[in-house]
Amino acid sequence: MHNFTFYNPTKLIFGKNSVQRLAKEVQKHGRNVLVVYGGGSIKKNGVYDAVMAQLKSCNVVELGGVEPNPRVATARKGVALCREHAIDIVLAVGGGSVIDCAKLIVAAAKIEGDAWDIVTGNVRVEAALPLGTVLTIAATGSEMNFNSVITNTDTQQKLGWGHPLVSPAFSILDPRYTVTVPRDQTIYGIVDIMSHIFEQYFHDATNTKVTDAMCEGVLRTVVETAPLLLDDLQNVEYRETILLAGTVALNNILGMGSEGDWGTHEIEHAVSAVYDIPHGAGLAILFPNWMHHNMLINPKRFAQIGIRVFNIDPTNKPVEEVAYESIEALRAFWTSIGAPSRLAQFDIDGENIPQMVRHALIHGPFGRFARLDSEDIFEILEKSL
Ligand code: NZQ
Ligand code: ZN
Repeated sequence: MHNFTFYNPTKLIFGKNSVQRLAKEVQKHGRNVLVVYGGGSIKKNGVYDAVMAQLKSCNVVELGGVEPNPRVATARKGVALCREHAIDIVLAVGGGSVIDCAKLIVAAAKIEGDAWDIVTGNVRVEAALPLGTVLTIAATGSEMNFNSVITNTDTQQKLGWGHPLVSPAFSILDPRYTVTVPRDQTIYGIVDIMSHIFEQYFHDATNTKVTDAMCEGVLRTVVETAPLLLDDLQNVEYRETILLAGTVALNNILGMGSEGDWGTHEIEHAVSAVYDIPHGAGLAILFPNWMHHNMLINPKRFAQIGIRVFNIDPTNKPVEEVAYESIEALRAFWTSIGAPSRLAQFDIDGENIPQMVRHALIHGPFGRFARLDSEDIFEILEKSL
């Protein structure tokens, strides 16, 4: 393991009726609240009403219409509202896209320049408004980390950035709010959760037995629960399990003592910058191909995940064979739950591969388990067509 310091300041408020704690948490920060939300799902499923009932003694300003793959232009609107209404706290109500947009708003409200300069790293974050969240979909872990991923349609870039100051002060997670998540988004969320664990499992350290076991335990639980949930989308207990898995998968607990790879996420962000496909869909297509491409770096590690998560029997088999079977077991699992496996399913052909490779390499070669250069990325994308 590497030396590490673990610090996560987000107060996690989890469970049925947890929204009733919202008023008290918000009031700690002030009365002027900017509520940020997406395309309207919260107005159909009662979440908006429940939140507004909690905010009745506050001055509420709203910013709706945050896009999946949130745009910097929308964050700019939020920054203007913060200034105009002397906002004390921003409340994100929705999924990872809404939360990521709100993270940029709280940071950009404190700088003179443009929000995009924060995303590119040209301007350093030195202050931020407080942020709270009410999560409505299990997927990104954004509710309990300080990452944000923002798209700029003018430059066709989708970039991740982060700063501890944009960690949510609190996040409210009621599994009942997630029962209306449609089947496809539920599947993408499950793939994203599993992918976050893989990104951390394939790392640059040795002797990570505790985090290995935690990763494998969460993965086994997701693999067990996902098919049950997809047969019964209204089941609150299955939703609850996946919701907590999503938070644990990316609140940095699983990454204690190591630096994860994150190469597949870099490539996916390049794909969705050019084609605006859902993040989890891109990961389902790319990850098995990243795994095959890099299997020989450490076949034992790929085999271990197959044995411990997909119950592969290693008896009398060379480790490479077990590793290969493990990757195919993952591919088969994702296909069995209805995840896509080819870019062609989103009408993406080879024509734009060079452009996606260029986008992916904007900060140079990446990946801590497997360092990828343009040739590697090209090959992974080509195999994904
Ligand atoms: O916009 P609305 O109407 O709310 O609908 C959303 C959206 O269409 C819908 N939805 C959410 N909750 C719902 C619901 N529909 C019905 N009932 C509910 N309860 O689901 C759709 C997808 O929402 P979105 O927020 O885009 O999904 P997700 O949480 O998967 O976020 C994806 C974004 O997060 C980034 C991705 O790249 C992508 O931009 N990521 C952020 C990370 C982070 N901050 O740590 C890490 C991830 O790896 C990821 O890159
Ligand atoms: Zn992700």
